[in-house]
Amino acid sequence: MKAMVVTHYGPPEVLEIQEVEKPSPANDEILIKVHATTVGPTDWHFRLGSPFLARILAGGLRKPKVNILGFDVSGSIAEIGSNVDQFETGDEVYGLAAFGKNGANAEYICVPATNVSMKPTSMTHEEAAGIPSGAGVSLIFLRSAGIRAGQHVLINGASGGLGIFGVQLAKHFGAEVTGVCSTGNIEMVRSLGADHVIDYNKQDFTKDEPTYDLIYDAVGKRSYKECQAVLKPKGTYITTWASINIFLNSMWTLMYGSKRAKYTMPKIGPEEIRYFDGLVQAGKLKTIVDRVYPLEELRAAHEYSEAGHAKGRIIIRVTGNE
Ligand SMILES: NC(=O)c1ccc[n+]([C@@H]2O[C@H](COP(=O)([O-])OP(=O)(O)OC[C@H]3O[C@@H](n4cnc5c(N)ncnc54)[C@H](OP(=O)(O)O)[C@@H]3O)[C@@H](O)[C@H]2O)c1
Repeated sequence: MKAMVVTHYGPPEVLEIQEVEKPSPANDEILIKVHATTVGPTDWHFRLGSPFLARILAGGLRKPKVNILGFDVSGSIAEIGSNVDQFETGDEVYGLAAFGKNGANAEYICVPATNVSMKPTSMTHEEAAGIPSGAGVSLIFLRSAGIRAGQHVLINGASGGLGIFGVQLAKHFGAEVTGVCSTGNIEMVRSLGADHVIDYNKQDFTKDEPTYDLIYDAVGKRSYKECQAVLKPKGTYITTWASINIFLNSMWTLMYGSKRAKYTMPKIGPEEIRYFDGLVQAGKLKTIVDRVYPLEELRAAHEYSEAGHAKGRIIIRVTGNE
C-alpha cells in the first residue's frame, strides 16, 4: 500500500511516499481503508522530534519509532479481526489510530475496534476525520479542569483544531463561553456557540477584571502568571502546552492559594470516544474544515499547520472524493 513514511526527525522533506506492507488486523482490530485523516501540531512535533517530550511520547529518542503519522481516521472497514462483532466489512467508521502505533497517512490502517464509531451518514469522511483527536483532547482538558454548568469559561485559541471543540463542549456542559481569536475568525467562533468573542488583536483578555471560573488555553500561548489575575477566586487555568513552568505552577497552586494551574496528559480512550460520538450522532458537535490536501501533498499540509493559523482542522484526503 501507499503511505507517507517518516524515518528520521526533521523538516517536512523527511516525509516520503513509499510502498509499504498492508497491515493485517489482530483479533480485536479492524482494517480501515482510509478516506481521510488530519494534520495538526502533534503531527509536526512528532515529525520534528521537538520539543524533546515529543520524542519521549513518540517512543524514539534518536529516530521515530512510529513511521506513519496521522491520528484521526475516517474510512470504510476492509477486514475484521476474529473477536470483533460490532462492525461489518464495508461499514463506514471514524475514530483514532492507537497511540504509539502507525497512523492514517496511508491507504490502510489497523485500529482497535473500540477506537472507532459509525460515521454519521450526514457527514463526509473529510468532516468526520476532523473530529476525533480535537474533540477527545479538548474533552479531557475541560473535564480535568472540572468544568461545570454556570461557569464562565474562556477558551484561548478558540479558532484552532482544539479550540473549536473547546467552545462547543464548554457550551454543551452549560458554561457561558468567551472565545479568544483573531479578527478573521470572530464569526466562525460565534457560529460554534460562543457567547462572547474577544479579538486578541484589539483586546488583551488578561487585563480584564477577575471574570473567569476556568481558562482553557487551547493554543498554549498565555501563561498561568498572565491569566491568574482574571480568574475568579477558586478559578482554574489549564493549558495544552507542557512546560517546566506549568508543572511548577501546578504543584505550587495545589499546595497554596485558592486558584489552580493545571496540565494533563490527554490519553483518549473508548470512554471519551463514546462520549463525543454521542454528541456527534445527535448533531451537537461538528468540525470546521479549513483546507483539504491530497496525501501526496502532506509536506505542504505540515508547513501550513506549522505556520500556526489553521481555522479549524486541516484534512488529508487519502482515497475517494468525499
Ligand atoms: N498536550 C497535548 O497532548 C496536546 C495535544 C494536542 C495539541 N496540543 C497543543 O495544543 C496547541 C494548539 O493545538 P491546535 O490543534 O488547536 O492548533 P492549531 O490547529 O494550529 O490552531 C491554533 C489556533 O490558534 C490561533 N492563535 C494563534 N495565536 C493565537 C493567540 N496569540 N491567541 C489566540 N489564538 C491564537 C490560530 O489562529 P490565528 O493565528 O488566526 O489567531 C489558530 O486558529 C498546540 O501547541 C499543540 O501542540 C497539545
